[in-house]
Amino acid sequence: MNWLSDNVNQLSLLGAAVILILTVYVAGKYIKQMKTDKATGELAEENWDGIGEYKNELPSGWAYTFLGTMVWALWYWTAGYPVDAYSQIGEYNEEVAAHSKMFESKWANADSQTLQEMGEGVYLVQCAPCHGIAGDGMGGKAADLTVWGSKDGVLDVIKNGSKGLGFPMGEMPAGLLSGEAAEKVAEYVAGGMKGDQPAEFATCAGCHGQDGKGMGGMAPDISEYGTPEFVKMVLDHGKKGFIGTMVSFKGRLSPVQEQAVGTYILSLSHGE
Ligand code: HEC
Ligand code: HEC
Repeated sequence: MNWLSDNVNQLSLLGAAVILILTVYVAGKYIKQMKTDKATGELAEENWDGIGEYKNELPSGWAYTFLGTMVWALWYWTAGYPVDAYSQIGEYNEEVAAHSKMFESKWANADSQTLQEMGEGVYLVQCAPCHGIAGDGMGGKAADLTVWGSKDGVLDVIKNGSKGLGFPMGEMPAGLLSGEAAEKVAEYVAGGMKGDQPAEFATCAGCHGQDGKGMGGMAPDISEYGTPEFVKMVLDHGKKGFIGTMVSFKGRLSPVQEQAVGTYILSLSHGE
């Protein structure tokens, strides 16, 4: 490494050399003086157990050096090495941002096969520690993703309720419907709310809206249930649920990665 090629290093070395020379010179001068000089001068009033102190002016060399360090500091912060100038962390962040941009544009139109494969990689690193390698939630430690997002997932929510995504509406109560009615509604919601709406959906419309879209953010948009968009919503929100807490992944995964992991986990419950 050629450390003399960096002007900050050069100046620091120059500064160090100047300080060293001054120190040697001043120390030498006083040592010489101590050998020959007789103490004379006016004593200050303070007196510690008989030991007095001469009234000394501030040595001008010291005062100039002090002023010099102030000028140096000003120069250093504003012109020499300003706070927003080059740094290794800055360079690293720029490189990561450039790479992420490339990654995002490269995979902007990835097909679902590609997304699923990429999603499996993201899943195994980010999600498997809690949800298990097979996605089954490791015996109730986290949501069972082989069910979640499908009709059985909706049935589970209707039976047990849901909480922790942090919507203004709060918690969805358990046991709103059962039996035949629950089946019909679950079928309808898991199917993307297409076709004739079952009359029993009225129970849900009070919170999710007639169109299931969640009444402008009051409750989740369940017309998207079982799509990567819904997974993305969950990942952005995080969940303080009944069985545990999942942190928010907002900003930790890129949009393409969220799309990919969503595609992958939904393939678990949709048997693809
Ligand atoms: C009292 C208001 C309310 C009613 C009534 C209601 N929900 Fe919900 N629902 C919510 C809220 C709030 C959430 C978000 C819960 C959370 O934070 O996990 C939610 C979440 C959901 C979810 C997503 C669960 C998940 O896994 O993230 C589904 C699916 C759902 N509701 C379906 C229904 C269906 C079907 C009905 C009708 C039987 C219904 N809801 C009735 C308020 C309600
Ligand atoms: C720290 C452990 C942990 C990690 C890591 C984690 N989860 Fe979760 N996840 C949970 C827990 C716990 C729940 C269940 C919360 C509840 O309902 O009690 C959950 C619930 C879910 C749900 C259901 C949400 C709902 O609304 O019911 C989905 C989908 C999900 N996780 C996907 C993922 C994905 C995808 C990843 C990886 C990017 C991931 N999780 C990483 C712990 C985790």
